[in-house]
Amino acid sequence: MKSISNIALFSFFFFTVLVSTCSSSNTPSHQSFIQCLENYSQIPSNPISAVLYTRDNSSYSSVLQAYIRNLRFNESTTPKPRLILTALHVSHIQAAIICAKSHGVQMKIRSGGHDNEGVSYVSNVPDFFILDMFNFRMINVSIEDESAWVEVGATLGEVYYRIAERSNTHGFPAGVCPTVGVGGHISGGGYGNLMRKYGLSVDNIIDASIIDVNGRILDRKSMGEDLFWAITGGGGASYGVVLSYKIKLVRVPNIVTVFRVVRRYNENFADLVYKYQKVAADKLPKELFIRLILDVENNTNRATFITMFLGNSQELISVMNKNFPELALNQTDCVQMSWIESVVFSAIFPTGTPVNALLSRVPQVLAHIKRKSDYLKRPIPKEGLEFILKKMVELRTPILVFNPYGGKMAEIPSSEKPFPHRAGNIAKIQYLTNWDENGAEAENRYLNLTRTLFDYMTPFVSMNPREAFLNYRDFDIGINHNGRNSYLEGAVYGVKYFKENFNRLVKIKTKVDPHNFFRNEQSIPILP
Ligand SMILES: Cc1cc2nc3c(=O)[nH]c(=O)nc-3n(C[C@H](O)[C@H](O)[C@H](O)COP(=O)(O)OP(=O)(O)OC[C@H]3O[C@@H](n4cnc5c(N)ncnc54)[C@H](O)[C@@H]3O)c2cc1C
Ligand SMILES: *[C@@H]1O[C@H](CO)[C@@H](O)[C@H](O)[C@H]1NC(C)=O
Ligand SMILES: *[C@@H]1O[C@H](CO)[C@@H](O)[C@H](O)[C@H]1NC(C)=O
Ligand SMILES: *[C@@H]1O[C@H](CO)[C@@H](O)[C@H](O)[C@H]1NC(C)=O
Ligand SMILES: *[C@@H]1O[C@H](CO)[C@@H](O)[C@H](O)[C@H]1NC(C)=O
Ligand SMILES: *[C@@H]1O[C@H](CO)[C@@H](O)[C@H](O)[C@H]1NC(C)=O
Ligand SMILES: *[C@@H]1O[C@H](CO)[C@@H](O)[C@H](O)[C@H]1NC(C)=O
Ligand SMILES: *[C@@H]1O[C@H](CO)[C@@H](O)[C@H](O)[C@H]1NC(C)=O
Repeated sequence: MKSISNIALFSFFFFTVLVSTCSSSNTPSHQSFIQCLENYSQIPSNPISAVLYTRDNSSYSSVLQAYIRNLRFNESTTPKPRLILTALHVSHIQAAIICAKSHGVQMKIRSGGHDNEGVSYVSNVPDFFILDMFNFRMINVSIEDESAWVEVGATLGEVYYRIAERSNTHGFPAGVCPTVGVGGHISGGGYGNLMRKYGLSVDNIIDASIIDVNGRILDRKSMGEDLFWAITGGGGASYGVVLSYKIKLVRVPNIVTVFRVVRRYNENFADLVYKYQKVAADKLPKELFIRLILDVENNTNRATFITMFLGNSQELISVMNKNFPELALNQTDCVQMSWIESVVFSAIFPTGTPVNALLSRVPQVLAHIKRKSDYLKRPIPKEGLEFILKKMVELRTPILVFNPYGGKMAEIPSSEKPFPHRAGNIAKIQYLTNWDENGAEAENRYLNLTRTLFDYMTPFVSMNPREAFLNYRDFDIGINHNGRNSYLEGAVYGVKYFKENFNRLVKIKTKVDPHNFFRNEQSIPILP
């Protein structure tokens, strides 16, 4: 990070010298905006003109599409940015902030592009541009220190690979999809297979680097604990442009054990799912993470149990026989492997895929997607389960994915990080809908199916508020309509994502970005 801070000082000089020039010319014209960017970023070795893609540029579409991860937002009707800035240097980011501010253009920040609602590259205001961070992807692992600096444009797969390259007994608790970007993932919480043992990604962050609304580069010490708290779970995009996080590596054994077992509907099916809810969070050791996927195949309910255990297969069998005999796990279902191989397994790559597949930036599948989330506080009773299972067969979509909580998650106070869903949760349920057809008719149909199952689930999940997970961005739970972030609109989704932590997020927001420059459809509002 040393090199970065030197460059930072250097560019800060330019940027201060030029402040007066730019703010005097705030005509909202395109040429003036570009001129402003060029004025503010005058480092000869890194001209900003080399990283600006305007609509008339023949590479504009491919640069835009390169990190569109939801095909719903790859249509001709999708609002497009006036330009894309593929920043290579901090001075480019500082110029983007200063000029977007003076020209009143909304800035969208994109790292891995996996936002479910396309928040990082689409907008509900007419005039916006994308600050694309994919070039900031350095990963600097220190095994001695059990930590790593990771830049926001790195993918989770790259982070896991670079850790495993240096040590087979270290890992990091984060998501299972390897192409997800560090920037959105960590700023929004970040969970995966190691959650019951080590908590979320944000529970394992030591430091961060961010550029604030005034173009200053801040680390944890200079930003202070409030802002550091906010950008470890409250979403980065309300507060600034995050450059990197310093993550704390966690210990993993040489050998872990995985299984994936499928059970189809029979007379004991609801009992099996019921029992899963009873044991998943409370009864199982922290080392064990059993994800349950409920879907429908050939008009029949199907349950897939995908598991990662930090231990060997004998131990796993004995834990399972003791706590969850109904699954009837067989030794032959279990596969022992290294932790990094289990990452490949969990990412649902075909068996035998080499671990360097984690370095691929191209997702295995791209689809039109809708996601929603719910929190399960009490087991759904058996009659309730039978009802939901029947509705799932009728609707065919969405799939329900249960991610068990408990363990370390239940030990961390709910105010420790902006992410509030800690003790008292059995699982988070994800509603997962993917489709291939383009166009509004298909979209409306699939959105309707997803919302219909969500409505049927109402009696069984958290209420007042009906809690939601920020990383599973869902515009159904409320948005700011005018792009200006009204406090009242913000409180609607804010309380669902953050519960009582919302107020602290608003106070910090009001302090660090009083004019609400960093805003989007679901950003943290300022105090009225
Ligand atoms: C296929 C798939 C699998 C997933 N699996 C998991 C999982 O296992 N666990 C989990 O927790 N989540 C998972 N997610 C959700 C994922 O963590 C979030 O969508 C996350 O926000 C994506 O980060 P990104 O950088 O790729 O996205 P982006 O779309 O680039 O960004 C998401 C949000 O963060 C903001 N942002 C991005 N970079 C910065 C930055 N540098 N500074 C400030 N703000 C920034 C964006 O403006 C946007 O609001 C999954 C999503 C998908 C689509
Ligand atoms: C990477 O980390 C090492 C050791 O922690 C440090 O000496 C080095 O300067 C870092 N490199 C960069 C580019 O940050
Ligand atoms: C850019 O700088 C030039 C020369 O200093 C100045 O004339 C012009 O007004 C500036 N434009 C903007 C948009 O800042
Ligand atoms: C498109 O923009 C890139 C980056 O600024 C530039 O290198 C390239 O020459 C431009 N291409 C055209 C055809 O203008
Ligand atoms: C996105 O849309 C463009 C233009 O229609 C198309 O060429 C491209 O293949 C699409 N991307 C994907 C991944 O389908
Ligand atoms: C589901 O149906 C398909 C074709 O209709 C068939 O090939 C497949 O074997 C069936 N699967 C199961 C588990 O019955
Ligand atoms: C486990 O699976 C093996 C191989 O499929 C089978 O022979 C054995 O009977 C199974 N054991 C149990 C307890 O079901
Ligand atoms: C789904 O569509 C039907 C038919 O148009 C409508 O009656 C229903 O209210 C919709 N459900 C949801 C949850 O949007």
